[in-house]
Amino acid sequence: MVPELEKPTVRILRPERVLGIIRAIKEQGSSKLQVISDFDMTLSRFGCNGRRCPTSHNILDNSRVVSEDGKKKLKDLLHYYYPIEIDPNRTLEEKRPLMVEWWTRAHDLLSQQKIQKGDIAQIVRESDVMLRDGFNELFDQLYKYNVPIFIFSAGIGDVLEEIIRQANVFYSNVNVVSNYMDFDDSGVLKCFKGPLIHTYNKNNSVLQGTEYFQQLSGRTSIILLGDSMGDLTMADGVPSVENILKIGFLNDKVEERRGKYLDSYDIVLESDETLDVVNGILRYIL
Ligand code: TMP
Ligand code: MG
Repeated sequence: MVPELEKPTVRILRPERVLGIIRAIKEQGSSKLQVISDFDMTLSRFGCNGRRCPTSHNILDNSRVVSEDGKKKLKDLLHYYYPIEIDPNRTLEEKRPLMVEWWTRAHDLLSQQKIQKGDIAQIVRESDVMLRDGFNELFDQLYKYNVPIFIFSAGIGDVLEEIIRQANVFYSNVNVVSNYMDFDDSGVLKCFKGPLIHTYNKNNSVLQGTEYFQQLSGRTSIILLGDSMGDLTMADGVPSVENILKIGFLNDKVEERRGKYLDSYDIVLESDETLDVVNGILRYIL
């Protein structure tokens, strides 16, 4: 059915159930399908040649527009909060206020750097960001079959939009909800627009007023792509879900987190920098 599911990076707890969901989504057809995806470390790569790739925040942090002092403070925040973000032994309730703290402090620091709106394209061009192998096929297939893709990101919307624009895949079926920058009249960053989206509030609570999922209420088949335990709630605002296939990229601390990922995601992709499995499933369905 889907030969890519035989890749050694693929782990599935209940293979029969997964095949059943894929078959059901195919039966419903492309007019009932929508894709909901995280961005950082899901559509973008986690690593390349043993080196980490940047998140949309890191792209700014590492760029020439942030002072040395700002860089150090942002790095200190990352080293303190990232282990908390991915810690399988802490509850979401414990993590949530700490994530609000991280995002708030990082956004405050970035907002002090006088970042110019007009510099973002160049900053992205000069960064080490990479989309996962196969991103072209993913976006092209979804566009060709009129399947909407909703990118739900706790990263920085202005930066991630520029990444997909530069990759030439920002098609009309791509919609983004994320943290957007607020610039003053002279185009200098002054703050971030609300509501704040962090790893563990990616649910309906931050989509109030967007009406996005209501407009797509006929699309009851969902393919959800994420890399964090916080991404599992991204489809909670969909009014009626008939079939949902959750695909999780397990990038970091694979051994410690495998159990939780296998329990929550239908398909777990371990240290797989490609979109092969997603594309293989779509090729079968569409
Ligand atoms: P997302 O992948 O759920 O959209 O979340 C964005 C990622 O950004 C999350 O894994 C943590 C990361 N991040 C940074 O790298 N630097 C930062 O300053 C902040 C606030 C988040
Ligand atoms: Mg992510």
